[in-house]
Amino acid sequence: MYLTRDEQAILDGEKGAGAQKAMELVTALGKIYGADSLVDITSAHLSGASYKTIGEGGLKYLSDMVEGGAMVSVPSTLNPVGMDRGRWKEMHISPEFAEKQLKIIDLYGRMGIQKTCSCTPYIGENVPSLGDHVAWAESSALSFVNSYIGARTNREGGPGALAAAILGKTANYGLHLDENRAPTVVIDVDEFGGSVFDHSMLGQAVGMKMGKGVPYFRGISPTVEDAKTLSAAMAAAGSVALWHAEGATPEAGNYSIDGLEHIHIGKKELEAAYDKLNTVEDVQLIAIGCPHLTPKEMHDIASLLKGKKKKNKDVEIWFCTSEKVRSECPEDVKVMEEFGPVLADTCMVVAPIEGTFQRTATNSAKAGNYLPTLCSQKVRFADIATLMAVVE
Ligand code: F3S
Repeated sequence: MYLTRDEQAILDGEKGAGAQKAMELVTALGKIYGADSLVDITSAHLSGASYKTIGEGGLKYLSDMVEGGAMVSVPSTLNPVGMDRGRWKEMHISPEFAEKQLKIIDLYGRMGIQKTCSCTPYIGENVPSLGDHVAWAESSALSFVNSYIGARTNREGGPGALAAAILGKTANYGLHLDENRAPTVVIDVDEFGGSVFDHSMLGQAVGMKMGKGVPYFRGISPTVEDAKTLSAAMAAAGSVALWHAEGATPEAGNYSIDGLEHIHIGKKELEAAYDKLNTVEDVQLIAIGCPHLTPKEMHDIASLLKGKKKKNKDVEIWFCTSEKVRSECPEDVKVMEEFGPVLADTCMVVAPIEGTFQRTATNSAKAGNYLPTLCSQKVRFADIATLMAVVE
């Protein structure tokens, strides 16, 4: 792989141990995947922010990077952490966990990373443009920016995205290249309701059917909320990192779909996706906001709940969003808080909920996939109105 003189100097340790470690990682990835050079990036989004997911090993890695003088060189944001920084007691979090979590956030901050912690930075703090090369971790967010915005990122892991953020560069392979952004299969969608929850089921169905690849949808016209949910579901049920929708996404017209395999998704496939995620009826926690709620979703939920009372006190409800969105929607928050806390910068999957709950409901196919494996939960999967009827 070709390196410029400056890049080689970083690899030789001339810019400090942190930058050297970053260059070692990025060039190693480039060699594995056949990159011919590095490419400049305009932003990074990092995962691996919860103490639950990275543990002591991750904490030590971050401490070493800070001690080595690592500092990001492009705007960089952070994924949700294991708790709401101000309301962790309401989440049944122990003081020991809280202390470690705050340390992790502090370490990221010392490397120049924005300490807002959300999986939807593209609706506020970190918005790439069409054609930008970026290095994003968080499977739902990177699929959204690849697909709905037309920025270019591979499915980065946390350390890879951090290394790229430090260098302002990543290895030029995979979805950074035109040829790998072409559709690989056509998804013909019919008998489709079109709600956000329908997009969650659609993503689950497509992820289950195709695993990986680049789907080209016909028959959908997703909004931002639909696209965020669809991206999350396909990334979790499969490993889709880029999709196109005819007439709706920026690169859909760039490639021919002649001769591609077609997959049909209708009522039967959506029902199979729904059934796959439902493993329990009665729940202890209803967790909404995977990926994090947008201002529109906050408003829609508040409208649904306005004037109603929570009668079933045995079931907890959490609404998850970013600090930015929570602070922008005070009226909606007030209505929602009658039912449960609006938690910022955390979520039901990266929080250690398994210490308190065993049965959780969600409207998100991504959460529906991860709650059993990462949080030992049985899951109820349904739309928000159905879930809220449980407690009214
Ligand atoms: Fe975001 Fe957590 Fe879901 S990070 S995409 S809310 S699993």
